[in-house]
Amino acid sequence: MSAQSQVRRKTVRDIIAAKQGEPLVCLTAYDAPTAAIMDPYCDLLLVGDSVGMVVHGLTSTVGVTMEMMILHGQAVMRGSDRAFVVVDMPFGSYETSADQAFLNASRIMKETGCQAVKIESGTYAAHQIEHLVERGVPVMGHVGLRPQAINVVGGFKAQGRDEAERERVMEEARAAEEAGAFAIVIEGVAEDLADEITKTLSIPTIGIGASASCDGQILVTQDMLGIFDWTPKFVRRYGDLQSEIAKSVEAYARDVRARTFPAEAETYKLSGSGKANLPKG
Ligand code: KIV
Repeated sequence: MSAQSQVRRKTVRDIIAAKQGEPLVCLTAYDAPTAAIMDPYCDLLLVGDSVGMVVHGLTSTVGVTMEMMILHGQAVMRGSDRAFVVVDMPFGSYETSADQAFLNASRIMKETGCQAVKIESGTYAAHQIEHLVERGVPVMGHVGLRPQAINVVGGFKAQGRDEAERERVMEEARAAEEAGAFAIVIEGVAEDLADEITKTLSIPTIGIGASASCDGQILVTQDMLGIFDWTPKFVRRYGDLQSEIAKSVEAYARDVRARTFPAEAETYKLSGSGKANLPKG
């Protein structure tokens, strides 16, 4: 058996077990090479519908389609072999009915090979979650700031700022757990609410802008690598790839214009046999 075939991809059991253990390390991923770089360090990779904003240039996640999620999900599955991979269900793919949710969730699971789907779960979605879990689709919920609902809320605003909002977010979290979600993302809420949800629920909570009280953390990879222009307050930047990329492209443009690229080492030559002298590898 090769070393590669001994690698075990994490399962839903590993994620659930983290409730009592070390914080879960989670990041978003959208393509194979980046997923391959992140895979050894992450417990969970989320193919988030944030792909619409940070890769496709949309102004919100509302325009993201099933085809986009499937394409990016397939790429992330090809690039990873260890992390648990969750694919977001896009806006409009699950809200109408439990049957619609199952048709689209099963299509995502079959066509990407991912381990679970995520639903931005208002309390109404409990029915969908229950229906999916009963039929073999593990579901991660998502409460608090739900980016697919920004047109109702009026923007990317932190949630749970008054008693009524707190109660609503708490109710969404309880409903997701009762319906059978194996974990939930909590986005954009104050620490005391994230703490209360984390202590109340028996499933892991994964926070984004929801304090260190959660059982794990997730960030949008482009935000933490400094590739995307707009960085919310809760993001810590671990890199500045935007300026690294700009520096590299500037140097390339300079070399092309000065005809110093390509040089001898980067040029194919005909050998004596008349065959192209192609580099090895
Ligand atoms: O789409 C996404 O990237 C997400 C994260 C913000 C959790 O849902």
